[in-house]
Amino acid sequence: MARLLDPNRRDARRRLLGGLDAEAFLARHWQRRPLLIRRAVDDIDDLPDRDALAALAARDDVESRLVEVVGGRWSMETGPFDRLPRRKRDWSLLVQGVNLHDERADRLMRRFDFVPAMRLDDLMISYATDGGGVGPHLDSYDVFLLQVAGRRRWRWRRGAARSARDRALVPGVPLKLLRHFAPTDEAVLEPGDMLYLPPSCAHEGVALGPCLTASIGFRAPSWNELSQQFLFDLAERSWPDGRPGDAGRPATDTPGALDETLLQAIVDRLARIRWSPRDVERFVGRHFSEPKPQVFFDPPAPRSVERFVRQAGKTGVRLDPRTIALYRGSRGYIAGDACDLPTHAGPALRRLIDHRRLDGSSTAAALAVPAARVLLHAWWSAGWIHFNDGASDAA
Ligand code: SIN
Ligand code: CO
Repeated sequence: MARLLDPNRRDARRRLLGGLDAEAFLARHWQRRPLLIRRAVDDIDDLPDRDALAALAARDDVESRLVEVVGGRWSMETGPFDRLPRRKRDWSLLVQGVNLHDERADRLMRRFDFVPAMRLDDLMISYATDGGGVGPHLDSYDVFLLQVAGRRRWRWRRGAARSARDRALVPGVPLKLLRHFAPTDEAVLEPGDMLYLPPSCAHEGVALGPCLTASIGFRAPSWNELSQQFLFDLAERSWPDGRPGDAGRPATDTPGALDETLLQAIVDRLARIRWSPRDVERFVGRHFSEPKPQVFFDPPAPRSVERFVRQAGKTGVRLDPRTIALYRGSRGYIAGDACDLPTHAGPALRRLIDHRRLDGSSTAAALAVPAARVLLHAWWSAGWIHFNDGASDAA
């Protein structure tokens, strides 16, 4: 069933998507073809600027990169950076996960919530001097490139790069630069303009004077990564401790041959491994709600459940920008943890997860359910949720 959006949000979303509603955008463009959207966003002034980005790039809990091209030679360094280069041109600073540290960046990223939250990765912002960029490349994920300040010339090639030639990289460079980049399209983006690119679409953005660009990127874990992680979790949870034994074995005069007894024991044991769709769901929920590796939550000073309930019932609660929360039916997944959503509080808790905040009266209603008090108090105590604006978490 289509979700009903309030008219203001619907108009803002249409504007964000170049006049298309989310369904039309997803059907025509998502994972299929690029879309250039002029004046997609008209309120980007309050995003972090060059100095705010530089301050983020100086932190060791923030992922940042500096890319320079001097006389045709590319270099890349990873942060933290005490200061930015003095040179006037040909470098750019890229700061990953700005949404984790800046509520305005988080709010901007949430405008893309017509895609499930488990697919949303982060909002990166780059500051580039004239001529700066990261060269022609492919990304393995969908990305919206939003021009925040200044101008940048984007060139891209329609269609996914599939052939070995289209994917060939320049050897001996610290970045993955495409060797043969033959763009089909070009546009200069001004503040508020946005370019959507599907995965594996070759592109290059070059700054025309100092500029800021935000990239809203989506997660695209490979089958390899998913299956490895699933089997690892399964082994941790359900495989027995111990090891195959060897007691009473006969002597061998062919020591190079695989030991048949040991081999058979391993074959038998592995053949007994079973998992259910529920195990897979649990893995997916926990895996996709796992915070980024550099994220550490700040738990508030402890409060009793009763005191928490009194405050939360007045102000309501919201998710921390770093919290990824997901659900399926009555099961919730938050910050890599699985839990049961108490039946009578289920609708309110799912609303909190979908909209990332819940007002005071809905929170109070949910907190009438004893199991929900315990659950929300635990989330709050871990720093995963906070009281709504204006109310301090401090005791
Ligand atoms: C940038 O902002 O410089 C790079 C973004 C991208 O091409 O993915
Ligand atoms: Co890119």
